Amino acid sequence: MIRKNMKLLVTGGAGFIGSNFIRYVLNKYPQDQVINLDSLTYAGNLENLKDFENHPNYKFVKGDILNSELVAHIAVDCDIIVHFAAESHVDRSVLDPFSFVRTNVLGTHSLLEVARQLGNKRFHHVSTDEVFGSLSLEDENKAFHEETPYDPKSPYSSSKAASDHLVRAYYHTYGLPITISNCSNNYGPFQFPEKVIPLFITNLMEGKKVPLYGDGKNVRDWIHVDDHCEAVDLVIRGGRIGHTYCIGGDSEKSNYELTMAILQGMGFGEEMIEYVKDRPGHDRRYAVRSHKVQAELGWQPKMNFEQGIKQTIDWYANNGGWWQRIKSGDYKDYYEQWYNRK
Ligand code: NAD
Ligand code: TYD
Repeated sequence: MIRKNMKLLVTGGAGFIGSNFIRYVLNKYPQDQVINLDSLTYAGNLENLKDFENHPNYKFVKGDILNSELVAHIAVDCDIIVHFAAESHVDRSVLDPFSFVRTNVLGTHSLLEVARQLGNKRFHHVSTDEVFGSLSLEDENKAFHEETPYDPKSPYSSSKAASDHLVRAYYHTYGLPITISNCSNNYGPFQFPEKVIPLFITNLMEGKKVPLYGDGKNVRDWIHVDDHCEAVDLVIRGGRIGHTYCIGGDSEKSNYELTMAILQGMGFGEEMIEYVKDRPGHDRRYAVRSHKVQAELGWQPKMNFEQGIKQTIDWYANNGGWWQRIKSGDYKDYYEQWYNRK
């Protein structure tokens, strides 16, 4: 049963996927109401939802998900908490694991506790396929699915795995009505230019080379953010309580193939690649089987990669101000730390 006229508390709605999700929901269900709770870390940006600032059914609240008093106050008359807020960048988790434990583990736990105290609020947890660990390049037919054992490898994926376990524990122990979605690598408009696709596109627009890690053979399964938002929307309105749904883009690419697609799409050649030191513990391959969400909720990714990457390149070309403001901020300090790491 698809539910309409919902009041949603979205955490992390000023980030990449959360802002795309709020736009998706308010366009599709004009009667829905959305409260966006975001503490505006380096990755949160109110410009992402500027066009919704004066929307009568949208409200932004600046705050930390660990502030349970605030969360209880704004969640009390909401139908569901859709939880996107997280520290999301693997490389940053190598430099500063504690902020990942704080927000992703303790923050998720704090939200669960509030949801329980408010009489068991409906709770959806947005998670990642990275909790399943790493596949080998040789086992081409293997892919993650809902029954795959957890085997996270990075501080980021471990913190997301821990939060997934807590979400399930609240279902089994307290009957909290939860769902979880584990999605593959997203790309599209408003992605912070530290993630590989927007970093490479904007570097090329600045006349810089693109830093490809290791041998460039690591594989990711790319999904357009609109397809992810549609899947989350279907799960929150029609997914089975207590269940997990894996969501993939059906579009596996090695980082080299991905880089060549970006270079060619922007009229550059291979000479713009700079091979750099690998990420420590770099997961080799991710791939996701989305059979369950397809069979139960009729979801399919709609955007093919060639169209999606072209749309994304065009978006960054047309929104230079957005990413230039980010790249001229404290962004440089992070790169200094990252490239000078021991
Ligand atoms: P993002 O880094 O772009 O945005 C995260 C948002 O959360 C930011 O707006 C930030 O200000 C906010 N936030 C961080 N800590 C907070 C706190 N303590 N309290 C309140 N707000 C806080 O991340 P994203 O790429 O949009 O990812 C969103 C979610 O989707 C995350 O949970 C991530 O694990 C998951 N996910 C991401 C991908 C991907 O490819 N990006 C894939 C699968 C799952
Ligand atoms: P990223 O966008 O950080 O997502 P994740 O690590 O969560 O999959 O990276 C995607 C892939 O691109 C990953 O295999 C690491 C690689 N990568 C580079 O080669 N160079 C870069 O500068 C970055 C940021 C990532």
